[in-house]
Amino acid sequence: MANVAVVGAQWGDEGKGKIVDWLSNRADVVVRFQGGHNAGHTLVVDGRVYKLALLPSGVVQGKPSIIGNGVVVDPWHLVGEIEKIEAQGVSITPDLLTIADNACLILPIHPELDVAREAAASGRGARIGTTGRGIGPAYEDKVGRRAIRVCDLASEADLKTKIERLRSHHDPLRAGLGLAPIDPDALLAQLLEIAPKVLPFVKPAWRVLDQAQRAGKRILFEGAQGAFLDVDHGTYPYVTSSNTVAGQAAAGSGLGPRGVGYVLGIVKAYTTRVGEGPFACELTDAVGEHLATVGREVGVNTGRARRCGWFDAVLVRQSVAINGIDGIALTKLDVLDGLETLKICVGYRIGGEIFDYLPSSLNDQAAAEPVFEELEGWTESTGSVRSFKDLNANAVKYVRRIEELIGAPVALLSTSPERDDTILMRDPFLG
Ligand code: IMP
Repeated sequence: MANVAVVGAQWGDEGKGKIVDWLSNRADVVVRFQGGHNAGHTLVVDGRVYKLALLPSGVVQGKPSIIGNGVVVDPWHLVGEIEKIEAQGVSITPDLLTIADNACLILPIHPELDVAREAAASGRGARIGTTGRGIGPAYEDKVGRRAIRVCDLASEADLKTKIERLRSHHDPLRAGLGLAPIDPDALLAQLLEIAPKVLPFVKPAWRVLDQAQRAGKRILFEGAQGAFLDVDHGTYPYVTSSNTVAGQAAAGSGLGPRGVGYVLGIVKAYTTRVGEGPFACELTDAVGEHLATVGREVGVNTGRARRCGWFDAVLVRQSVAINGIDGIALTKLDVLDGLETLKICVGYRIGGEIFDYLPSSLNDQAAAEPVFEELEGWTESTGSVRSFKDLNANAVKYVRRIEELIGAPVALLSTSPERDDTILMRDPFLG
């Protein structure tokens, strides 16, 4: 039995929540390894909708769940999300949830800085289009070695020292953006107030995982965002501030790379992205509107409309390589129902040259024009189909062509937001 890492293979919002929830059934432990509450996962279970941002999706199934060291944790958001999910009848106890003691915190100063910077950049036409949750500034403090970590919540003395260190860095920055200096007493009081609500869940997560691994438990790594939002591999600087690729599952949880197992890339049958940045296949016509409306392409967390476009096989092939994807879960195929002709991007034309990959330079990415291949669409409904043999011939052709172009097989096919509308073609846990 392999462990399984689930990662977004495009720009996020591929429908990871449903797939992770489905796989959680067969897993013993679920772990988040990067990002923060910028992620938005919608789970639909028996018609009930759960919206998660920071909690691993396993909690809804009562599976032991871990927030790993690679995640940035906003403790106020965390406590609020626990309360919200508990109000929906899901109990979240310290037996169920572990928060890595060495994860870094998102403090109120981080979203303040995030939002102020975006506002300032807006005047220069240089916004990233962040979620405004303070993710970037929190990771900056982490690599700048001045972050307050989850374990620090247990010591008032440590918090005081660390707040002082933060002040010397942040106050000049804040002044430049017209923000008031940090109020150290107020920040300390806020942290001391939230600490007792968080500390019961805090443990060395790497140890919990090591024990689970040695006991032969099946571990599911739950990625957030997608490969082209990865801080190294994405459309930089229009990216998030963490590594989102499967390699991070090891570093961000504290289990070695051999523990990661099967890498399942989640791939939407078309392409979407939120925020700014290059998007070669973007559609601003009636087809784009069809995808947005039928696919209900609105951010779970932020309510922002997602930009929509044709399936980009060049992008996903690159994603298969940088993630080491073994198989994909193809989602939202039903959104294409009723479109007469379908296009798949098979190359980019940049400055008169044809590329079979996305170059790193932002100028090249922005100039890339898609080279399309056309396939016939279908009028039949693929929604809620539960067997591959019940898919119409053109839908099968579309799926098979995607497999060919990206160089990875479809392991799961999802045909509606409901948990049970999932066609299993290969079991990722069997490797
Ligand atoms: P940040 O992660 O809030 O810093 O935002 C940086 C970029 O990542 C922006 O383009 C966001 O729209 C995008 N982003 C962050 N989280 C998600 C997500 O869960 N889904 C899709 N895009 C995201």
